[in-house]
Amino acid sequence: MDLTWVEISESALAHNLKTFRKLVGKDVVLAPAVKANAYGHGLLECARIFEKNGADYLCVNALFEAVVLREAGIKIPLLIIGYTPLSDLADLPTNTELVVYNLETVETLGKIGKKVGIHLKIETGNHRQGIELTDLPDFIRQLQQHPNLILKGVSTHFANLEDRINHEYALYQLKEFNKAVHELERSGHAPHYRHCANTAAAILLPEAHFNFVRTGIGNYGLWPSEKTEMAAKRANIGIDLKPALTWKTVVAQIKEVKKGALVGYGCTHEMPYNGRIAVLPVGYYDGFVRLLSSRGSVLIHGKKAPVIGRVCMNMIMADVTDIPNVKLEDEVVLIGKQKNEEISAEAIGEQSQTINYEVTTRINERIPRIVK
Ligand SMILES: Cc1ncc(COP(=O)(O)O)c(C=O)c1O
Repeated sequence: MDLTWVEISESALAHNLKTFRKLVGKDVVLAPAVKANAYGHGLLECARIFEKNGADYLCVNALFEAVVLREAGIKIPLLIIGYTPLSDLADLPTNTELVVYNLETVETLGKIGKKVGIHLKIETGNHRQGIELTDLPDFIRQLQQHPNLILKGVSTHFANLEDRINHEYALYQLKEFNKAVHELERSGHAPHYRHCANTAAAILLPEAHFNFVRTGIGNYGLWPSEKTEMAAKRANIGIDLKPALTWKTVVAQIKEVKKGALVGYGCTHEMPYNGRIAVLPVGYYDGFVRLLSSRGSVLIHGKKAPVIGRVCMNMIMADVTDIPNVKLEDEVVLIGKQKNEEISAEAIGEQSQTINYEVTTRINERIPRIVK
């Protein structure tokens, strides 16, 4: 028996993918991001479900993820959107394309001589990855020297779409992106695919769909931010995303604790009454972060039980004084729904000073993902 496990709802993942299909139309490539262990949901499990339900491509961050997916029999094209070291470029699995923004990458790939699809990444204002517009002619010249490199796409990434109600900066980035596209067209190197849409853009900016979208968090049923959700509501974009992940554990010990007893490392929690606590076998090693000490809560018997004292490496303590009949090995929900209560990734994000993206991706990869 596992001490802790993550349940993934196949119907929720399928529903979310269908929602994006409806939003962007049948002619736009749907390329869900499965990087970071599919945002903590399980790389292979989610890739299989997305492929089965009509994803056209999958976006991964790194070569190792592409290798895992190919070895497991995933057939659809893969796009590596992170950095691939020059020394690893010879090892790209079949039907694996990559985003390119360094001349060194073009040169090394060109010399390897294998046919490979590449997507240029344009710097439009994120200042993360990307080719400056002024450097684009150099890339075009390099590409002309390497006919084995097939220019399949041109892309960019928005900096602050989910942080703003006003999308001025994203629209500026879109303009810069269009300049790059025109430059490529003028030089006779217009790639077929144009892409810049993450989840927020897929929902809020139809003009950013082009013919390829790289949605991430929305596929898992989570909104990129409250602002994105509000903006969608205001614009009457009625989309219903279904969270796909439930993180569970079991009660490992029940303990009667007297008023005044000190709970956990640092003796930070003093029991305010004679009560009962449940010890749960998860801790910060598993991804239940220490910032949730005396802040977070868990669900037992459909009720919220506050986390008391410090989160330990492998254990936490919850106050179950108000929840009758809690027994050893009763099921506990750490993220998700139980009866009528819910602890969302967003709520945990707020309690631990981060965002839902980080909450789900930090769930330790070793914890089993079970598709339900
Ligand atoms: C380059 C790129 N494209 C697409 C995405 C997907 O973004 P989101 O999860 O906000 O949809 C990410 C995520 O970080 C990204 O880095």
